[in-house]
Order: sequence, then C-alpha cells, then structure tokens
Amino acid sequence: MIDPKQIRKDFPMYVNHIKMQGHDLVFLDNASTTFKPFPVLKAEEEYLTRFTSNTHRGDYDLCFTNDSKVAEARHVIGQFINAEDKEIVLTSGTTMSINFIAHGYADKFLKKDDEILLTVAEHASNILPWFEISKKIGCKVSFIPLDKEGRLTPENVRRVISNKTKIVAVAQVTNVLGFVNDIKEIAKITHEFGAIIACDGAQSVPHMKVDVKDLDVDFLSFSGHKLCGPTGTGVLYAKYELLEKMDPVLVGGGDNVKFETDASAKYLPAPAKFEAGTLNIQGIYGLVAAIKYIQEIGIENIEDFEKNIRKYAISRLKEIPDLVIYNENAEAGIITFNMKGVFAQDLATYLNSRGIACRSGQHCAKLLHHFTGELATVRMSMYFYTTKEDIDALVEALKNGGNFLDAYFA
Ligand code: ALA
Repeated sequence: MIDPKQIRKDFPMYVNHIKMQGHDLVFLDNASTTFKPFPVLKAEEEYLTRFTSNTHRGDYDLCFTNDSKVAEARHVIGQFINAEDKEIVLTSGTTMSINFIAHGYADKFLKKDDEILLTVAEHASNILPWFEISKKIGCKVSFIPLDKEGRLTPENVRRVISNKTKIVAVAQVTNVLGFVNDIKEIAKITHEFGAIIACDGAQSVPHMKVDVKDLDVDFLSFSGHKLCGPTGTGVLYAKYELLEKMDPVLVGGGDNVKFETDASAKYLPAPAKFEAGTLNIQGIYGLVAAIKYIQEIGIENIEDFEKNIRKYAISRLKEIPDLVIYNENAEAGIITFNMKGVFAQDLATYLNSRGIACRSGQHCAKLLHHFTGELATVRMSMYFYTTKEDIDALVEALKNGGNFLDAYFA
C-alpha cells in the first residue's frame, strides 16, 4: 500500500516545501512531467562528480564505467517492459522515438497509397511525424473513429483497417482523456492485416505494467521524465528484426564502423546505429535510478493507488455543479474538465493563484476538439505522491472562485 505522505520524503520538491503564489504547491500536472526523487539526483551527481567522461570512445576506466551504465540501462529498461536489451534504443524522449519510427521505418518501407491509422486523441508527437511521412511519400493518414465516450475500441479498428494499412500508431493511454486502450487486441487485429503497431507509451509506461511481449507491439515509445527520471531521456523499443531493417535517422559520431570519401558508410548493429552523438549520459544515470525506484515501489502498486485516488477525485469534483468532466470513466489518473462559462486558461491561471498547477489548453492533442467540441480544457493529472489533500485543495479552489470565476457570469 502506497502512503503518498511517506513517499514525499523521497522528493526534494516536497521536502523543500516549494510554494507557488505564497501557497504550498499542489502539483497536478504529472502527465506533463513528474518530480524526481533523491536517488535520481544522486545518480546524476555520481556521474557529474565521479564518472564524467564519454561512452564508447575511450580506452580508460572512467569510460568503461559509463559503457557499463549504458549496458545496465538497456537491461533495466528491458526488464521493466519485458524486452531484450538489444531491443532498447536510448532517445531523448517519446517525440524522438516516434520520429525514429516514422523517418527510419515508414519512410523506407511505406509506399504511395499505403495507409497509416491514428486517432484524433493522439498527442502531436504521434500525429505530426506521420503527417510528414504522408506528405513525403504520398501515403494516406486516416483516423480510427472513437466511440461515444472517446475510447479507441478494437471494434472500430476492425471497421477501418484494410490491406492498405501498414502502420497503426496509437497511444496506450491518451494524454487528455486518459482511457486505457486494449493494445493487445488492437495489435492482434493489426497483425491479421499484415501491418505493424507503433504504441505511444508516454502516458502508460509510468503508470501501469507494460509487457511488450504480452501486448505483442512492434514499437513502444516512452519518456524518462514522466516516470520520475530526467528530462531529455527516453526509449524506443522495437522488435529486433525491425531495428535491423530500419535506417538510422540521425547519423554521426559513435554509430558507425567506417566510412569513406566515396560516401560509403557502414553503421554499427542496432541499437547503437540509432545513437549517434554523445549520449545524455547524466540523464541515463538518472533514468536507471528512476526505473529502479519505480520498481521498488511496484508498478502494480502505483496503478492501484492511482485508481483509488482517481475515484476520490471524481467523487469530490462531482460536488461542483458547474464543472463539466470529459472523462469521468477513464482509467488513468488524468481528469479533464471545464467550468461552465469560464475559459480554460483563465481557470488554470486562477488555480495558479491558489498554488495549484494544472495544465490548460489543448495539451498538444490539437485534433481532439473534433471529438470534444472544445478548443480548450483544464487537465489535472496525478501520480503516486498525490494526496487527498491535493484534491481537496483543488475542489475548495473550484468551489470558492468568488469574484474571479463569477465575473464570467456578470
Ligand atoms: N506530453 C505532455 C502532456 O501531455 C507534455 O502534457
């Protein structure tokens, strides 16, 4: 059982009693990024103070230590999602990972008139790379309809998928509506049609058990900073045969065996061929520590905890008559709402004045208005250090907006 008040002792942002606008900080923007616990700071400090040097480029002990850390990172990440070490590419985050799939795989293997399937609930990072590929090679991007609630259902995938479909690129958990999609079933349908599935795990991997073999996804992308790790760290998982076939998108130092003046170049085997340039070594130290920290807490415990705190949040938010909740029945710790008559960004600004951090606007999911009909919403998102007191503070602020919120009804 997770006790968020105990957990907070691990997080400098809580230990330091950070305030916002004179109030104790209530951080409800964890879908955007998460706080970092002491072990992550310590690991990064270790690199900076004891092991600073490059990787794979030096024949001395400091370098070997960092080479081992990179190998450890692949192993720790691989175990976390049930993948082989060699199937883990270290990236700067989900956005880079998805771009690698689009530009390294789709660009090479898709043809004019092939189809890529997305949904309007996807984050910009799981739409724009596919748009760019479609413009470049003339393939088509189509959208799988969402059901009435905003969910992606296997039935709707089956309705639109065809032999022209080559890639299904969807999130396991959407970043605004927070529904958990049945990726295992969607992967099965995708494979029946000979297509591949690229799963955006940015909002799922930090919050629930994700097993790439069980799901049978071809690609999985996620970020380190949403699971208590450093910004600028991320992962691209791919089945190894796909990594072998793909081209590197970024090329340069550290990813090649040789090259010659005739422009011939031989790249290292995957995953190294995708990791050109000096790695974010400091971040990798932090990422390893973050995953170990999450594993110590237990990803299943995190999932359970978030389900319960979500239930509490929904029951409290429903006390507010003017609040419109867009995803009451979602599974993830993301709740998206508006206050009737109040523009979302004004509401978030008001919450800021009470020390409460929520995100407002389109949350990078700029096609979702086709489903919700709303150009902007407010999103609160929780993690395993969110307390009932955080929720109470939000509800109290929403109930007592006074002149600020009433002004809109004048
Ligand atoms: N992808 C992050 C979010 O949804 C930034 O807020």
